[in-house]
Amino acid sequence: MDPLISAALQARENAHAAFSEFKVGAALEDNAGRIHTGCNVENATYGLSVCAERVAVFKAISEGARGFRRVAVVADTETLTPPCGACRQILWEFCGDIEILLANLSGKSEVLRLGELFPRPFDSSFI
Ligand code: THU
Repeated sequence: MDPLISAALQARENAHAAFSEFKVGAALEDNAGRIHTGCNVENATYGLSVCAERVAVFKAISEGARGFRRVAVVADTETLTPPCGACRQILWEFCGDIEILLANLSGKSEVLRLGELFPRPFDSSFI
């Protein structure tokens, strides 16, 4: 198995999904080959919950990492779970047209690029 998927699988175990019980793990590989992981962290006020992908990006950025080449997202779904709209925006801003690996617990996986999921982004070039 791709080590990035293994890292996301492992991170998923730490998900705090007390409300949805939908656990997600993410792993972001920077250009130096370091892996930054994240899991979803839910909150009793629901709207303050944060997805696994954004946790991984913000952890990486807060540790000084810049420039990313791949991100893996793992959830327990037959149809592979893609990043939500908010995560697509954040991924685009920090990672550009990054490679996305989607995987589930049965070993099914797929490789996409963010540009396919988020074809006409708003970003800082408009400001
Ligand atoms: N979630 C993620 O962490 N990543 C995704 O790609 C899809 C959704 C989380 C948010 C929430 O904690 C739970 O899954 C149900 O939506």
